[in-house]
Amino acid sequence: MIVAIDGPSGSGKSSVAREIARRCDLTYLDTGAMYRSVAYVCLERGVDPDDADAVAKVARDVTIEFVPDGDGQRVLANGEDVTAQIRTPEVELAVSPVSANPRVRETMVALQRAAGERGDVVAEGRDIGTVVFPGADVKVFLSASPEARARRRAVQRGGGNLATGDAVSVDARAEQKILEDLVRRDAYDSSREASPLRPADDAHHIDSSELSFEDVVSAILGLSPELATRAEGRLA
Ligand code: DC
Repeated sequence: MIVAIDGPSGSGKSSVAREIARRCDLTYLDTGAMYRSVAYVCLERGVDPDDADAVAKVARDVTIEFVPDGDGQRVLANGEDVTAQIRTPEVELAVSPVSANPRVRETMVALQRAAGERGDVVAEGRDIGTVVFPGADVKVFLSASPEARARRRAVQRGGGNLATGDAVSVDARAEQKILEDLVRRDAYDSSREASPLRPADDAHHIDSSELSFEDVVSAILGLSPELATRAEGRLA
């Protein structure tokens, strides 16, 4: 079974997809981490993220692995653990041109489809329901207001946990900066020529602005009898 979860950054996709994977015994595929890994390797090697040919070559040559680690997973790029490094502001900046590169996308989509062929997957990203797995069994487009998304990112950066509800105090200026970056990145991701962020025609839209984490997870489990059965099977 394939579950596709798309949406803008900060919509809660990652936490939700991870939880659906855990409860339904599916493999979690974080496609954003793949584009981030390519961006990271480019920066490491001094490759200009706007140099389309050089970046496409990095994407073709890189080996990306996801290794289970407790409740989460670690990301390896060419064998190096880059789990933390792919979340830095430098990588956040570089990943936009990298992910807008059609040849990078071609390479990443092929790897993502290969992962889908190996078994039951919940994949999250921007183009999963439209390009990577247009025949996915369940498609969700998860959105939230820019303000709600900026708040979540700020809480995450401060060490809070959305899934458990652990709160932290958030610096207002940092949150404002996150909001500005997020709006800029949304505009870029939605207006780029290669696979712009848009919902698949048959995606279920969920606006998570006013919903709790558990509400969103339950709403998705409720979309498909197979998902609900899998979740019950794991609980039993
Ligand atoms: O979901 P994220 O913030 O980790 O994604 C990082 C970047 O990669 C973001 O700029 C959007 C892009 N991306 C993409 O273009 N296609 C995907 N399937 C996943 C992410």
